[in-house]
Amino acid sequence: MEHKHHAKSSINFLNSDEILEKLDLNGDEVFMDAGCGDGHIAIKALKDYLPDGMAYAVDNYDISINELEEYKQENGLENLINILADITQDIPQIEDDAIDMIFMLNVVHGFKAAGNMDDVIEKLLRILKTDGKIAIVEFRPIEWTFGPPLEIKYAPDELEEIFNNHGFKKVYLNEDLGQEGLEEKSHYLIIFEKE
Ligand SMILES: C[S@@+](CC[C@H](N)C(=O)[O-])C[C@H]1O[C@@H](n2cnc3c(N)ncnc32)[C@H](O)[C@@H]1O
Repeated sequence: MEHKHHAKSSINFLNSDEILEKLDLNGDEVFMDAGCGDGHIAIKALKDYLPDGMAYAVDNYDISINELEEYKQENGLENLINILADITQDIPQIEDDAIDMIFMLNVVHGFKAAGNMDDVIEKLLRILKTDGKIAIVEFRPIEWTFGPPLEIKYAPDELEEIFNNHGFKKVYLNEDLGQEGLEEKSHYLIIFEKE
């Protein structure tokens, strides 16, 4: 199943601070916003959560990465490294064991649709440090007024099983994130650590 989600930003319906403050960053990490879109998370992270850190912003949509380049130049954001790349493939611009935290916001449902989540994890393993973390924010597997169709939403325990198979353990889960629904909120944050 193909699921197109280039140029769709979460900035209008998710609060960046609500997410970033839960990532428990020390401030000096190498962070990666994978499937960054407009890069608003990488930019906000650098501004308010990573005073001594740096961020890679990676997307396979050239328009998003070009716009990010313009923003970077205009704002002198030297510790932002924007890369046009497909994260289902190896990213040669990033060295082995380079990243402390890989973050994906509303990205992995696309990999469920395409059936290549395992490929993505295997590729990310090379660039993630020992004890590095992968943090994922996704739509909860419930019917919602917007977002991807229910059948491509991952439940947290479904993701956990996949990540366990690649040598990760779940270290955090928060299912009370995002927009208010009638009974439950729209999103969850799950964090995995390399074992
Ligand atoms: C729904 S958008 C979310 C964008 C951003 N994370 C946000 O929440 O505002 C999904 C993003 O993932 C990117 N993407 C999808 N598949 C990708 C891949 N294989 N490699 C890199 N980026 C990808 C899309 O181009 C798009 O920018």
